[in-house]
Amino acid sequence: MTTRSLLILPGDGIGPEVMAEVRRIIDWFGTARSLAFEVAEDLVGGAAYDAHGTPLTDAAMARAQDVDAVLLGAVGGPKYDDLDFAVKPERGLLRLRKEMDLFANLRPAQCFDALADFSSLKRDVVAGLDIMIVRELTSGVYFGEPRGIVTEGNERVGINTQRYTESEIERVARAAFELARKRAGKLCSMEKANVMESGVLWREVVSRVGAADYPDVELSHMYADAGAMQLTRWPKQFDVIVTDNLFGDLLSDLAAMLTGSLGMLPSASLGAPMAGGRPKALYEPVHGSAPDIAGQGKANPIACILSFAMALRYSFDLGDEAARVERAVEKVLADGLRTADLAGEEGVVPVSTTQMGDAILAALEESV
Ligand code: IPM
Ligand code: MG
Repeated sequence: MTTRSLLILPGDGIGPEVMAEVRRIIDWFGTARSLAFEVAEDLVGGAAYDAHGTPLTDAAMARAQDVDAVLLGAVGGPKYDDLDFAVKPERGLLRLRKEMDLFANLRPAQCFDALADFSSLKRDVVAGLDIMIVRELTSGVYFGEPRGIVTEGNERVGINTQRYTESEIERVARAAFELARKRAGKLCSMEKANVMESGVLWREVVSRVGAADYPDVELSHMYADAGAMQLTRWPKQFDVIVTDNLFGDLLSDLAAMLTGSLGMLPSASLGAPMAGGRPKALYEPVHGSAPDIAGQGKANPIACILSFAMALRYSFDLGDEAARVERAVEKVLADGLRTADLAGEEGVVPVSTTQMGDAILAALEESV
């Protein structure tokens, strides 16, 4: 029997609530589809800090290295704002990304038809939108040295370093080209080659990889600021976008909001293939811990559920089952079910996190 191991890290804020719904879906796959998962759970972020004084224990890190895929809820909250940088909840997540070497962060922005009116942009700009941002996740200004706050003369200076090696650029570019090849065959690379040397090198390496190995993919380049503008002007011009860690952080939030709600968007962070061929992988919703609504049963579990669907597709080669989950989500949205983040239409009473989970399970049940 194939074993499929998962480590679940619910984390902080709404993380545990949305992850509870994912667990029910995982269980459903075990009973209804005979696809069993070995599931372990551990702490990350503020929850780990409260219990152990660190946002990720070495033991949890080791478990993450050991499983087929990690599912993470969210980290952070105002309670931890004044903590030292080294033990902030976010460091737990950054450590996972760095030590698992998850260099390719896939952030799809898809606009479900039933939700096109939730976008702040006009319906025809976003309806049917389906783009994929590939964000470099283990280098750049997030990790570059030197960094810190130092004293120079009579004032302090804050320092961070943007740094990319050719091989770091090349491997994320390849991941993006491969994806483009399976989609509409278009890749747009974004940097600031007009002001940054790292951007000049980025453009050069992406062009070289494209010309040598992906002549069938239509490659274009854009300065990241112009890219942000084009993403809001006419996002459907894009298929796959590849960009660095910091620009990718910004552009993926922007792209997410095009679709109406951050509560809808999943992500996959992939590394190099492990022994059995599966890539090292971590899946998480793009939304954060939303401390303002945590513990109230209001959170939208869809982004986390769709992140599990990405795990089915990218870690377990179960694309049909992933599509089954995605169709179930589409169905409940088409039926008019809305969590509070999506309520707002006249006469719509928002459902709770669990009710949304119930409805998705029912739609899954109907799908077999
Ligand atoms: C994201 C988040 C993280 C990031 C934070 C929580 C460290 O904003 O995943 O986009 O900046 O990468
Ligand atoms: Mg972000």
